[in-house]
Amino acid sequence: MPELGPYEIADLVGDARERAIPILKESFEGIYRWHAKRTLREIDLVRAVTLGGTVVGAALLERLVPEVGYVYYIFVGAANRRRGIGGRLLDDAIARFRSQGARVVFAAAEEENVRSRALFRSRGFREVERKERGWQEGGLGAWGLRTRMRLVSGEVLMGVRLDALTPPEAERPSS
Ligand SMILES: CC(C)(COP(=O)(O)OP(=O)(O)OC[C@H]1O[C@@H](n2cnc3c(N)ncnc32)[C@H](O)[C@@H]1OP(=O)(O)O)[C@@H](O)C(=O)NCCC(=O)NCCS
Repeated sequence: MPELGPYEIADLVGDARERAIPILKESFEGIYRWHAKRTLREIDLVRAVTLGGTVVGAALLERLVPEVGYVYYIFVGAANRRRGIGGRLLDDAIARFRSQGARVVFAAAEEENVRSRALFRSRGFREVERKERGWQEGGLGAWGLRTRMRLVSGEVLMGVRLDALTPPEAERPSS
């Protein structure tokens, strides 16, 4: 794949969200496609990467409570995968949640979806154990929030504590 040239990452608002439908259709099938489409239209925040005016990747994001960010979906058009776009969208989501005071970010990944789990792992996410301590107590348990995450059968919950992640240099306080 050629180097990723100049690209834009910005909010997609209102009708402009429909511009993400072609790559959404390439990325999901069946119930996931139906649910992703509905979420695209209803969710608080959609961030998108645009190359030459075309939406090539998008992330559907929501703050479940002020301290908890949630990545509902991240998807990149088939022609532009493995070029770093998904990673940049996830870095952008984490930076945004962090700047808004989030302490933890969760994401749902299909159990069978190797590339999705690899993407989240590449940014420090790990799978949440069924019985683990809650995020308020230093773990990644999402007690009380799972129903709002609308996890479907076959999906696993992944999460990362932002205090355990080193922020990019630009965000670190200078000594
Ligand atoms: C998952 C997805 C968003 C990744 O997007 P992408 O732009 O190709 O990802 P990137 O190029 O930024 O890769 C970032 C990291 O993810 C991991 N990764 C991505 N694709 C991978 C693959 N096919 N196999 C293994 N690891 C993969 C790697 O760790 C990669 O880092 P590296 O390139 O340094 O090895 C993309 O494959 C996609 O849209 N899939 C369909 C929709 C989907 O399943 N979304 C996720 C669940 S909501």
